Amino acid sequence: MLPLIKDLLTTDPSGTKDGLEALVRGWVRTKRDMKNLVFIEVNDGSSFANIQCTFDIDSHQETAPVLAQITTGCSVEIKGRLIPSPAAGQRLELAAGEVRLIGDAPEYPMQKKRHSLEYLRENAHLRARTNTFGAVARVRNRLAFAIHQFFQERGFQYVNTPIITASDAEGAGAMFQVTTLESSRGDAEARGGIDYSKDFFGKRTSLTVSGQLEAETYATALSRCYTFGPTFRAENSNTSRHLAEFWMVEPEFAFAHLEDDMALAEDFLKHLFQTALKDCAEDLAFFNERVEKGIIDSLHKVANAKFAHLTYTEAIAELEKAVSKGRAFDFKPFWGCDLQSEHERYLTENLTGGPVIVTDYPKEIKAFYMKQNDDGKTVRAMDVLVPRLGEIIGGSEREDNLEKLEKRMTELGLKPEDYYWYLDLRRYGSVPHVGFGLGFERLVQYVTGMQNIRDVIPYPRAVGLCEF
Ligand code: 4AD
Ligand code: MG
Repeated sequence: MLPLIKDLLTTDPSGTKDGLEALVRGWVRTKRDMKNLVFIEVNDGSSFANIQCTFDIDSHQETAPVLAQITTGCSVEIKGRLIPSPAAGQRLELAAGEVRLIGDAPEYPMQKKRHSLEYLRENAHLRARTNTFGAVARVRNRLAFAIHQFFQERGFQYVNTPIITASDAEGAGAMFQVTTLESSRGDAEARGGIDYSKDFFGKRTSLTVSGQLEAETYATALSRCYTFGPTFRAENSNTSRHLAEFWMVEPEFAFAHLEDDMALAEDFLKHLFQTALKDCAEDLAFFNERVEKGIIDSLHKVANAKFAHLTYTEAIAELEKAVSKGRAFDFKPFWGCDLQSEHERYLTENLTGGPVIVTDYPKEIKAFYMKQNDDGKTVRAMDVLVPRLGEIIGGSEREDNLEKLEKRMTELGLKPEDYYWYLDLRRYGSVPHVGFGLGFERLVQYVTGMQNIRDVIPYPRAVGLCEF
């Protein structure tokens, strides 16, 4: 494998007489002509930095006709010698000797000028060639790897939970159906119902909203596991933090209580922030300057501070206090209401000034599987809230008592017999266990400062949006 531009830019040619021989392959970002000197900035996506290739036409006349054809967006191969750069702006440059145009780029839609994020979203197939989206892709990649590292180092086994499923993991009904009955559907509906026994799987199936329930079956066998995969929500939420298809990381572990879950979530997020600060420094410097001023400082701060803890009941009291002091919310907070994004942001941005973990929510606004508190009103849920975004993690201790779980499912209109396998975990060797889900795109949003979740996944899917 040839060294990438990132590797070339970290070599040290100082001991050589006239530089190190090097071969560069990539896409042209810019070309500047200055009399007999031509400068081409080439980027191969391996890092934020371009390599500057300098052509001295006087000593390499044969390159002139090729250089004349080169424009922004072309793919090129350039041979030369890597030398300390005589000019400011870069440590090294390539004193170029040979150039080959691999693919030209007439009327390239990604010109050097700054394009709007909307324009880039319409050109999502080319946007990874821009500074912003190249940086997002690299940070996303590093965070994905850091997630595996974090869990692998702590004895969590990676489990691949199914994407097509017959159960609703959140009991919320926001699922996309999977069927091959489409063609006969109109007729079936006219006859008064669809016969799912004739469908591909012989029953009604959907895309999963979460791998949690299946992860629980492994956590209650392997003690510690995690899933990391795509999840789907057919919610009609057209916001800057919701997608219809997003990636979720879900650790699940046995012999543990909510306090352990909270501690793991905090360690996990801090590990991810620290990794990004250490290994994505160049990309973060770009986000700090061009996307979200001060983001590096704020990541350092949260990577080192203790997360605040509040119960839901305390959180509501604080929100009500804020209202009485004149704070206006679109939705008036009251005990029993689901926290809106504006409430979450108040708690994390104004009240605690950093990440906060809210626990013990009313059972009515949380999923059926959460462990019930003795008060009969609340469950052992936790949401981790962060500035700018609100909820980044949602999790809980799981109900490990068979009777309580069956009763709650029935109250909510779920059929316990459909979840017999899930209930079996409470029948055979039941243990206290916990887990949480981190929205991977929300994490990437938080670390990069990108405003819209549609800009941190290569091809966003949302209501009315499924391009590419
Ligand atoms: O809070 P949620 O719905 O929790 C679960 O799905 C649990 N089964 C997780 C678990 O305990 N194993 O989702 C978890 C996280 C949220 O905190 C949020 O970060 C993200 O997933 N999320 C979304 N991200 C993007 N678009 C959406 N529509 C999202 N819905 C949830
Ligand atoms: Mg949630």
